[in-house]
Amino acid sequence: MDGWHFPRTDLANHYLSLFDLGISSSFALIAPRRKGKTLFILRDLAPAANKKKYLPVYASLWSNINAPHEGLIQALEEAIAAQDKKGFVSRLLQAKIKKATLSNELLGRMEVEFAGNPEKVSSKELTYLDQLLTTLTEKAGKKTVLLLIDEVQHLSTSPAFDPLTHALRTMLDKRQGQVKSMFTGSSRHYMNLLFNESQSPFYHFSQPLPFPDLDRDFLTFLQEKLASDHHLTVSVAELSRSFSQLDQSPYWMMKLITRLVTARTSCKEALEYVTHLIEAAEDYEGLAKQMKPADRLIFLALCDGKNPFSQTLLQRIDQQTSVKGVASNIQRSLQRLQEQQLISQPKKGEYQVEKSGLERFLRTREKPKSK
Ligand SMILES: Nc1ncnc2c1ncn2[C@@H]1O[C@H](COP(=O)(O)OP(=O)(O)OP(=O)(O)O)[C@@H](O)[C@H]1O
Ligand SMILES: [Mg+2]
Repeated sequence: MDGWHFPRTDLANHYLSLFDLGISSSFALIAPRRKGKTLFILRDLAPAANKKKYLPVYASLWSNINAPHEGLIQALEEAIAAQDKKGFVSRLLQAKIKKATLSNELLGRMEVEFAGNPEKVSSKELTYLDQLLTTLTEKAGKKTVLLLIDEVQHLSTSPAFDPLTHALRTMLDKRQGQVKSMFTGSSRHYMNLLFNESQSPFYHFSQPLPFPDLDRDFLTFLQEKLASDHHLTVSVAELSRSFSQLDQSPYWMMKLITRLVTARTSCKEALEYVTHLIEAAEDYEGLAKQMKPADRLIFLALCDGKNPFSQTLLQRIDQQTSVKGVASNIQRSLQRLQEQQLISQPKKGEYQVEKSGLERFLRTREKPKSK
């Protein structure tokens, strides 16, 4: 769906202008899965940076899930090798866009992935990484290297990656004038560990930034394209309702658009179709089955914005489940929900729901069936 990218040039230029302010030479974009982070970096931010005084280099730490340093090494090697060739930045970016789009379609991409066999980076590799960055900054001449590091939450998923995390911080710290960095990642839980925990090397080094959801302009863009390229009349209001049902995910929204175009159905039918796709992809059925009754009550209470330690909830847990309604049991449930990525804890005592789709699924099942 090449022609369907909605450009976010203003947002890209806004982020770039933050580097000019001198507040920080490193920022981190945090947003849930499938919100368009990678495509924004590759299609909007990198080209905008390239037009200015930057040399953008994109690396995904998921290139090799067991050895995230390899993704960095490869990206730097490619950037160095391509330096002498004309038009290299756009060619490299095109290749990465293709790869990102393809990997979006692979199964199992919904969750945070964990390394099955995490490898520690060797000191030789760290030295090499440092050398590569030096070579690239020299080759970049007047341009400032802008490292765009994706899936950065991966660094906090295993202690084996700690040496790489520390080294990366040092490498960037000592080159603050010459190298800027923009990290992206999903999983607010692991991103918080990386950027908001005082023991983390990135604490106070990289400034977390919100990555806003796509807005009405995106929906107007879709509506106009449907009308002009496919002679389909769908109102912005209908698209907007669907987009909010899909938790503002452009990934699922594009699935809905594909359905509209290929099956030429109503927006309502397309939304139902995509909702089923999501349920299957996220395995809500399996998640619901695995959930302990107390976890489920707490999850739904958090969805309603309620305090998980309230007396009412403690009583309900006592009455409706086999566990006692006491604080320690709530604590354990909250821990489990976090480990399953169903909720995250941005600050102490504050919880965010990560899977609102699951809430809808659980509630639909709770509704008494009419005969
Ligand atoms: N600006 C946009 N215009 C149109 N479609 C978009 C846009 N941004 C993202 N998409 C659609 O959403 C899909 C997912 O985007 P992307 O891979 O960038 O998300 P992500 O937030 O990086 O996801 P993940 O957390 O899984 O890595 C894209 O393949 C594309 O179909
Ligand atoms: Mg991504």
